Amino acid sequence: MPRRALELLDAPAPAPANSLLQMQSSPAQWGSPLLFFFLGALLVLVILLILILILWKFVKPADVLKLATRENMRLESTDVFSGNPRTISHFDLQTLKKATNSFHRANLLGKGGFGPVYRGKLEDGRLVAVKKLSLDTSRQGESEFLGEVRTITSIQHRNLVRLLGYCSDGPQRLLVYDYMKNRSLDLVIYGKGDQFLPWSIRFQIIVGIARGLQYLHEDSHFRIVHSDIKASNILLDGKFQPRIGDFGLARFFPEDQTFLSSPFAGTLGYTAPEYAIRGELSEKADIYSFGVLVLEIIGSRKNTDFSLPSEMQYLPDYAWRLCERSRVLDLVDPKMREDGFMEKDILLAIHVAFLCLQPHANLRPPCQRS
Ligand SMILES: Nc1ncnc2c1ncn2[C@@H]1O[C@H](COP(=O)(O)OP(=O)(O)OP(=O)(O)O)[C@@H](O)[C@H]1O
Ligand SMILES: [Mg+2]
Repeated sequence: MPRRALELLDAPAPAPANSLLQMQSSPAQWGSPLLFFFLGALLVLVILLILILILWKFVKPADVLKLATRENMRLESTDVFSGNPRTISHFDLQTLKKATNSFHRANLLGKGGFGPVYRGKLEDGRLVAVKKLSLDTSRQGESEFLGEVRTITSIQHRNLVRLLGYCSDGPQRLLVYDYMKNRSLDLVIYGKGDQFLPWSIRFQIIVGIARGLQYLHEDSHFRIVHSDIKASNILLDGKFQPRIGDFGLARFFPEDQTFLSSPFAGTLGYTAPEYAIRGELSEKADIYSFGVLVLEIIGSRKNTDFSLPSEMQYLPDYAWRLCERSRVLDLVDPKMREDGFMEKDILLAIHVAFLCLQPHANLRPPCQRS
């Protein structure tokens, strides 16, 4: 028995205070310990009744409901973040404010559908990209936030962007990634910047994206469909190695199902017909988007461009037409033609793109074969 408990047992019994029982009489006087027990129980009952009355009068049912919801949310986020605590850490808002100079405009890298992305420098010198999700009235930002954290903490590959941590502070939701020195593929291939990428680098990017997709679809623990493969979601490190980013719309996929029924939520122009029309989402939708992306990389242009003559406006259609006329190399960016390219490799890449763009999902190859 612990010493403290023994000391308490040895100590002389405290002098009785002016308790209710003392004021009346001792149990012996009443002649029955049963009555003593009865009085005690009655006292407890009275106290309980008084407490219930107080609660009834002062606590509104809405408050109880609010409390329960908050607790639910807390449990839900604990579940989300318990995915893999070794690879993701929590950042507090102050640290991220300091890193981005209070989210200064000069550090703005870009703005997507879910909010702005800022460049930041942590105290230990690491460069990061901080995505500040706007939690609009539809609360879409919240599901993007949870989706991204859930997916990316459960996978790791050199062609997938690395999520370093998150911040959840009141209504604020932020995601912190490795900063990618060459930002995203759209900035390079749509000619927004003045950087020109030779064919060898473009080929390396195509192969890297295919490897990242193969990992998601076939090699990771889970079968994952990204569902928003596009140029601005392909990030480029200092050596122009690609990393697939933006997992907010990604979906875990049961092994025994051929597709998920899901309302369309990707980007028009990259969307496979069965997903756009019937809401049938599978890894074949990513393969289709990859096909569009390969044509964009070869032609240095967007999949849809209304400033071009009508037959050239939609890139996959235009490519098919050129193929029918045996003039498929007309797709190649004129600057790249000047710079020189491996005709054999380009023809191979175009061939792969055509296979990926098959209208019937079953005819599209898996990434491994692409
Ligand atoms: N880790 C990063 N390193 C460097 N730049 C980044 C990083 N993540 C995002 N960016 C830049 O921020 C821009 C905005 O990214 P974001 O994903 O929010 O928008 P988006 O891809 O243009 O649109 P969407 O919301 O449809 O994905 C990107 O285009 C890219 O240039
Ligand atoms: Mg994006």
